Amino acid sequence: MSSERRARDYLEEIESQLKDRFDGEGEVRFFRACGRLDWLGSHTDYNLGLILASTVDREIIAGARLREDGVLNLYTLNLEQEIRLNIDQLFPDPAHSWANYPKGIISELKASGIEVPGLDLVVYSEIPIGANLSSSAALEAVSLEAILGLLEAQMSRWERIQLCYRAENNFVGMPCGILDQFTVYQGQKDTAIYLDCDTLYWEKIPVQFEQIQLLVVDSGRGRELVKSEYSRRREECRQIYQILRENGYKIAHLSQLKSEELKEIEPLLDEVLFRRLRHIITENQRVKKARGLLLEKNYPALGELFTEGYLSSSRDYENSLPELDILAKLLNQLSGLLGLRIAGAGWGGCMVTLVRGFNPEEMEVIKRRYQEKTGLEMKYFLVETGDIPGELER
Ligand code: GLA
Repeated sequence: MSSERRARDYLEEIESQLKDRFDGEGEVRFFRACGRLDWLGSHTDYNLGLILASTVDREIIAGARLREDGVLNLYTLNLEQEIRLNIDQLFPDPAHSWANYPKGIISELKASGIEVPGLDLVVYSEIPIGANLSSSAALEAVSLEAILGLLEAQMSRWERIQLCYRAENNFVGMPCGILDQFTVYQGQKDTAIYLDCDTLYWEKIPVQFEQIQLLVVDSGRGRELVKSEYSRRREECRQIYQILRENGYKIAHLSQLKSEELKEIEPLLDEVLFRRLRHIITENQRVKKARGLLLEKNYPALGELFTEGYLSSSRDYENSLPELDILAKLLNQLSGLLGLRIAGAGWGGCMVTLVRGFNPEEMEVIKRRYQEKTGLEMKYFLVETGDIPGELER
């Protein structure tokens, strides 16, 4: 792993690409933001429930400088794509979906009264793209940090979170909750975040990586279904809420329900909606328990909760896929495995596993078996937590 080229090794390349491609002037400054890893709380955020998450020490780096001519120049080293736009005419474009994130930030800044006079922005991401580690929230955050830094504009952390959230919901059109943006902005090294998405009460919980390892396994299966299935789940949750309200439940959101109420609710919902609700309620309970276990450093019990969460996702919320289920079965053979779950929205992407005493040789065997069974190449990497977004001093 030590020979791996990290994002910070790309600074010179970012700068030379920016200077060679775009004809602006002035100093190029660098900014960074990490991805996020959800530890528990799958699809609870938009149901105003609980989440436990952290940043992940994989980041996006941006080199940036202002322009005065109303031009927005964007380039990604990962995809080798360059885009030139008029900064006053920004629209979401499915052909360059990565660019919609910085465009969304500029457009939301404008809506909040901050005009960007023009910008050159070159990015490199070491967060795997489309793997459910929220490279999108990191791209939003790094773009916002760059612009605010260059303009020397002030904005509170909470306003930054909300602006990124609005960029994703309003401009990009992904109807997400607050999990990704909140975690990317509030996460810190050796810290997990516990958040109540209703009251916005939150805590930082220390995490010690001498005792455990977080192993992220990318299934190699894309997330083509995410947008449609995610919207469908939100709609199902809305339907459940409506049915319960019509039946006299005076709740403001689904996360106010207790597991003791599930039995009496069951006859009111069809079988699918009932399973969706059971996932949300039990997942909130798992997050609450996980908070205590993390504070006590009881990692084996935390791992068991991860796996319970995965089973609930797979059986009740159905945001797993056959490939992820195959991967989960194979990963269960790892001798040091404490637990595993599906990262982020699911429907492809990564599995997050909690391990003690990681053995790369065993992992290579699993990798081969996974390829035999699915034809897909999985990738894996150990991660730790990362820092809050900001400027990178050279
Ligand atoms: C995606 C969304 C988040 C959250 C998760 C599922 O990552 O962006 O808001 O809903 O899925 O927990």
